[in-house]
Order: sequence, then C-alpha cells, then structure tokens
Amino acid sequence: MFSTLSTWLEHRTGIMTFVRAMLLEGVPGGAKWRYVWGSCLAFVFSIQLITGLFLTTAYSPSSSQAWSSVHFIQYKMDFGWLIRGLHHFGSQTMMVLIALHMLQVVIAGAQLPPREVNWWLGIGLLSVTFGLSLTGYLLPWDQKGYWATRVATNISSNIPVIGNDIKQLAVGGPDYGNHTLTRFYALHVAILPLSLIVLLIAHIVIFRRHGVTSAENEQGLVPDAPPEASLLTQHKEEAEHEPFWPRQAFYDMVACMAVFSVMMGLVLYGFAHEVEQPKGPDGAEPGWYEKIARAGVHGKGAELDAAADRDTANYPARPEWYFLFLFQLLKYFKGDLVLVGTVHIPNGVMVLLTILPFFGYGAMRKFGHFFGMFVVMSLLIVVGILTLFALRDDQPDGILFGLLKSSDENTLKLARQHQENMRDAEKLAKRACQLAMDGTPVEGGHLLIRNDPLTTGQKLFQVKCGSCHSFTANAKDKELKLFDDWVPKDKNGKANPTASDLGDFGTKEWVRSLLEDPMRPKHFGAVKKPVRNAENEIVKGPDGKPELTNGLGTMANWRKGIDKARKKPKDPVDPILQDADFDAIAAYLEILARPRDERKDEKAIFAGQTAFDSEFNKCSDCHRVEKAKKVGKALKWEIDGGETAPDLSFYGSADWIRGMIMSPGHKDRYGKKNLMPGFRNTEGPGSELSIREFHDTNPPPDGLKETPLQHLSDVERELIIRWIRRDYRPVYGGAVIAK
Ligand code: HEC
Ligand code: HEC
Repeated sequence: MFSTLSTWLEHRTGIMTFVRAMLLEGVPGGAKWRYVWGSCLAFVFSIQLITGLFLTTAYSPSSSQAWSSVHFIQYKMDFGWLIRGLHHFGSQTMMVLIALHMLQVVIAGAQLPPREVNWWLGIGLLSVTFGLSLTGYLLPWDQKGYWATRVATNISSNIPVIGNDIKQLAVGGPDYGNHTLTRFYALHVAILPLSLIVLLIAHIVIFRRHGVTSAENEQGLVPDAPPEASLLTQHKEEAEHEPFWPRQAFYDMVACMAVFSVMMGLVLYGFAHEVEQPKGPDGAEPGWYEKIARAGVHGKGAELDAAADRDTANYPARPEWYFLFLFQLLKYFKGDLVLVGTVHIPNGVMVLLTILPFFGYGAMRKFGHFFGMFVVMSLLIVVGILTLFALRDDQPDGILFGLLKSSDENTLKLARQHQENMRDAEKLAKRACQLAMDGTPVEGGHLLIRNDPLTTGQKLFQVKCGSCHSFTANAKDKELKLFDDWVPKDKNGKANPTASDLGDFGTKEWVRSLLEDPMRPKHFGAVKKPVRNAENEIVKGPDGKPELTNGLGTMANWRKGIDKARKKPKDPVDPILQDADFDAIAAYLEILARPRDERKDEKAIFAGQTAFDSEFNKCSDCHRVEKAKKVGKALKWEIDGGETAPDLSFYGSADWIRGMIMSPGHKDRYGKKNLMPGFRNTEGPGSELSIREFHDTNPPPDGLKETPLQHLSDVERELIIRWIRRDYRPVYGGAVIAK
C-alpha cells in the first residue's frame, strides 16, 4: 500500500529522488561536528520565519499602535511571550552562529577558489542579517529601539555625499515617526527576508556544487562539471564519500536542538518586566492554562521597554549588544576623525573580507588560507575586545568581577550617570507595562508615562516643588518600593528644606502631628523668611547673607498659649483643648476633605466641630471651615470662622492643594503671610487672563512688588496633586481630571 503510494508520488513529482539526493549527498572526508553551523543557521532562520509570521498577525506597524500591539503580544496574547521571545533571541542567536560559521569557513579555507562566489554570497547573507536585526529592533517602538535607531541612522548620515540621502530615505521625513516605522517594517518583513531566502538558496545550491571543504575535497569534487549535469545528481557517483544521511544529519539535528534549547532557556528564564496578572471577570484567579499561555506577566520572554517618547531627556541609548563594538569604535574617532570610525574602517573591513578569496590563486593558496584565518580571527577578537570595552565603560565597578575597569575619572562619572539613567528607564518600563494592562491611549503608549502620577508626577514634584518641600515615603511606599525619601538640597548637596514635608500631607496623622508641635521641621519649622527693618529693607548678617527668621509662627504661638493655659488655667469655666480634642479635630478635618455627600460619620463630624469651635483659644478664631447643620435628616454645610488663617474646608483634598498651588496668597490660603510662589499655566491661550486674575487675588507679601508666579501646565499640576495624594491613575485631560 505504502509503496504503491510512494511510487505514484515519485512518478508524479519526483520527490523521492529529490529527498534521496538531499540525504545521500556525499560528505567528502566523512561527517564532522564542525560542519553543523550552516545547518544551525538555516534552522534558526526558519524559526525566525515561522515566529515572524505569527507576530505579523498581531503586530501593528504604526507609531501610535506598534508599542501597544507588542505589549498585547507579550502580556495578553496566548503564547505571545513564547513566540516573541523565540523571535527576539533567535535574532541574537543568528549573530553568534554567523560568527562561528565564518570562523569555521576560514579555518577550512572554504573562502578560497573554487568557492569565491559562495563566500561573497555569505557576506551578502551577513549584511542582510545585520539589516534584519537593525530593522527589527525598531519595530516594538519602545525607547530602547527608538533611541538605538536614532544613533544608527545618525551614523549613516556621516557618509560623504550620499549619507544624508540614506538617512532621509530611512527616516522618511524630518523626524523619526510613522514613516520610519513603516519603512523599517517593509524592510523587515518583506524586502530583507526575501533577499535572505534568495541568497540562502543560492548559497546552499552553490555549496553543494563543491561540497564541504576538507583535505580530501579542497578543489571541489566536480571542478569541471559538464553544464548539463543535474545539480541534484552530481555527487551520486561519489560513493566512497560518506553520505549526509545518517551521521551528518544526526550531528546537525543534535546541534540544532542544542541551539534551540539555549534559545528556549533564555525565553523561559525571562527578561520581560513582571506585571500583575489581571483577575478574571468575576475576580477569579487565573487557571493553569492562563498561567502558562500568558506567562509574559511573570516576566517570561523578551524585554519590552516603555513606549518611544522623543521628548525623553537623557535616555541611556545603547545599540543591541552585537552593535556595541561599532558604538565603542566611534568613541575613538571624534571630531574630524568621525569618518574614520563610521565609514573608512567598516567599509575597509568589508572590502578586505570581499577580496579574501583572491589570495587563494595558485601558489598563494597556503598564504591565502592563513591570511583568511588571520583576518577573521583578528576581526572577531577586536570586535570582542571593543564589546568588552563598551560594557566596561558603562560600569562604574568594571566588568568581569572588576578585572576590567576604566581608570578615566570622566568615564567613571559618565558610567555612574548611565547606570542611574538605566535604573530610571527600568522603572519607567515596568510602570508602562503595568499601566498598559488596563489599556493604552489611542494616541500612543508614550502617554502612559507622560501622564502617570507615580513616575512623571513624582519627577515634576521634585523639579517644581522639591526645591523647598521634602517628601518622606511612608511605610507602604517603602514596602512597595514606590519611591525614596525626597529632601531638598543646596548647591553643596546639604539637606536644605525651606517648607513642609508633604509626605502624607493633610491626613489625620499629619494634622495631629501639626497640632502637637507646629514647629516640627515636618510642618512650619523649616519655613524661614528674611528679617526686615522698619524701612522694609532686608537686614543682612555679618556674612553678607540675609538674616533669617521663622517664616510662619502663628500656630506655634497658639500652641504655646495652649500649653501655658493647660498648666495654669485662668478661667476654670473656659475648658482648654486636650489631646482628645485634637484627635477629634484631626478626624473631623479628614472627613471634611471628602465631597459633601460622602461625609457620613455624623458623630465624628459634630464632635470635631464642637472642639474646633467652642473652647478657649479656639481654631475658628482664625480658621474658616465648613460646618454641618442638621436639617431634617440631611446635613447642610455652611462656611464659618475667622479670616486670618487658611480655610480648612476640604483640607488635604485635591481641590485644596490645587488652590494652594494656583493661589497660595489667596485669602482662603495664606494671604499676605504667603511665602510660596504660585504655579499656573502662563503660556498659550487664556493665560493672560489667568495671570491677571492671579495678581488680583494674590496680594504681594511684605517687601515684594508682586507674588512670584511660575509656569505649570494644567496636566502637570494634576500629576503633582495625584502623586502627593498617592492616586496613581494616569491623567488624560478631559472634563474631570482629578477628583
Ligand atoms: C519657594 C519654595 C516653595 C516652592 C517651590 C513650593 N512651595 Fe509649597 N510652600 C512653601 C512655603 C514656604 C509654604 C508655607 C505656606 C506659605 O508660605 O504659603 C508652602 C506651603 C505649601 C502647602 C500647604 C501645606 C503646608 O506646608 O502647610 C502645600 C500643599 C504646598 N506648599 C504645595 C506645594 C506644591 C505642590 C508645590 C509645587 C508645585 C510647592 N508647594 C512649591 C514653599 C514652597
Ligand atoms: C491664632 C490664630 C490660629 C488659631 C487659634 C489656630 N490656627 Fe491654625 N493656623 C493659623 C495660621 C496663621 C496658620 C498658618 C501657619 C502659621 O502661620 O503658623 C495656621 C495653620 C494651620 C494648619 C496648616 C494649614 C496648611 O496650610 O497646611 C492647620 C491644619 C491648622 N492651622 C489647624 C488649626 C487647628 C485645628 C486649630 C485649632 C485646634 C488651629 N489651627 C488654631 C492660625 C491659627
């Protein structure tokens, strides 16, 4: 039955002859382990083709969608992590295999005649593979690929005459964007793979024409093959040579499996950022299938950096490791010499490789063989050394257990800076991957980080507010490693806060601590202002610097008054605020921070209100606050109290902080006592009106012509507010941006 079928198939297609010809090809000199590299390369390339094909089904080549589609593949698509991981490490594996293959070729002298053409095809394959890596690196449209590609295309623009045109052709416009991505995509999925397939077929066919290069077969088996001889049957008569099947085929398969295991090991070890796995619709834990199919959330597979954002300052851009040598090379050729590193040396090397076969004619063959080995080996060694140097220059502690360490102080400084930037970038990448689990804005994944309170909000706080305010992380922040304590520093790096510590600002504990001792550095203790004489001039000390005094002392004096009265009550009828009253007030203020219809705990409200209102040295002498009245079953709110201190209604809420940022000198905030600049959007439409309104409602404090005002966009302000309040939902603009 089987034999009838195969006879039929053979008759109709000739497949059996073909398979036999493939498998029984002679291996002159016998099967050897060192012949496996070419097969491994073809094997890994076929994995790239298959996984790449799968990836195209989910990948979207547009600058706004590319990142989120790769995020989808990595974290949400069943086995996307595996497919992407294999593709990612496959490309790197090909780089390693190419080096080994080349080495094996020159050791055998296989670049020498009659195999020159195949050597050139090999060089073509090498270039196409480099091209595939380079183009593939950009496709996720993440920071890493984006900045690395900028570096790479800028290098090409150094080429004389045509350099800028090449760059323009690659970038497709004045800046890196959608056109760059679609061009790279077309190269990566169509032009380059097709070229590679054509070159590879030619490479294999021509290889079979001369067979492996061994001592027995230096000149090729059929130097004068008649032109009409079939390619597939040439070697049939070479029965004295061991056929490819089974020994060489077995060696090749074992090697391919070993290579595949390494790739699989890397994928399973995992280089992706872990994110929290979303629960099922009914809050169910993921089952075993989801756990495996979406193991990307546990960090399996390849890394995905945060989405590309060209507005990122000092992103630690580095090319993929197999391009690092070029990157390092460029460091040695700066200024006028830049062409040497970018053009002369790389092209010189390519030319040298191309002419290697010519050293194999006639009597030169021995020398040519040796010279080929020398060139390729020294090339690999130099590339290796340059790569090590590149790695060394980025590590302040050096590499290889500190054996290789830069001694240049400036390099070390840059290395430290680089490591710090790397850590920042890592944090952002992890955060972006986590945020995108809830979806990505259609405008592009870069908005995730740009509008993220936890990362961008924190940075903005440090830049805009952190010159005066500290921010101490609480126990939970520390446990979750969200951020470290922030302390303002002066020019010499000494701690120098001049305003309160806003970590936990406005919480019950914060108010309680303030009432205990308003002069703690956490509250008003750090606030200083210059001493002024009767003419309202700043008094300078002996060192020429302005003399400073406590900036805000009213609460401190009030607290001293309470302590004094507690020791020696003047009027026994007028009860003095006790610690329990402070507790009640703190609880009450916390309730007041909520929207009116969410203030529920009536007992706490009225207890706090009574304490706030009714005792000796009472709060409402100076502070206004919303007070509740019972009307039927509902609570009615009315503002009431003194006018000489900040309004404490909604104290600690986003609204209160917003008021403080936009109008710190408003009568509802610090009025004439204010020492803090205002922050508003002072650029663009509507800002003039806003600036005028600011100066109308923020009368200048003593000695100043006007209250200082700094630019802060609306979104930036909301990011800061959310970060202070530990509300980490991204801010996307629109109607209600903070609650
Ligand atoms: C130049 C120093 C300075 C900068 C910059 C600054 N502040 Fe202030 N801030 C102060 C001072 C001083 C006070 C005390 C009250 C006052 O003088 O108005 C204060 C008070 C506050 C308060 C009230 C809480 C308290 O301490 O009683 C909040 C909230 C606040 N600032 C938030 C911010 C935010 C948010 C930013 C950044 C957008 C910022 N501040 C920038 C100096 C500064
Ligand atoms: C004599 C007037 C006065 C009394 C009484 C008073 N305060 Fe104050 N309070 C101030 C002033 C003025 C400030 C601004 C800081 C300063 O100058 O000390 C302030 C600041 C505050 C702040 C910080 C506001 C911010 O921006 O963060 C809170 C909270 C506060 N007071 C709560 C209370 C409570 C609660 C009471 C009653 C138990 C009270 N105060 C009694 C005058 C007063």
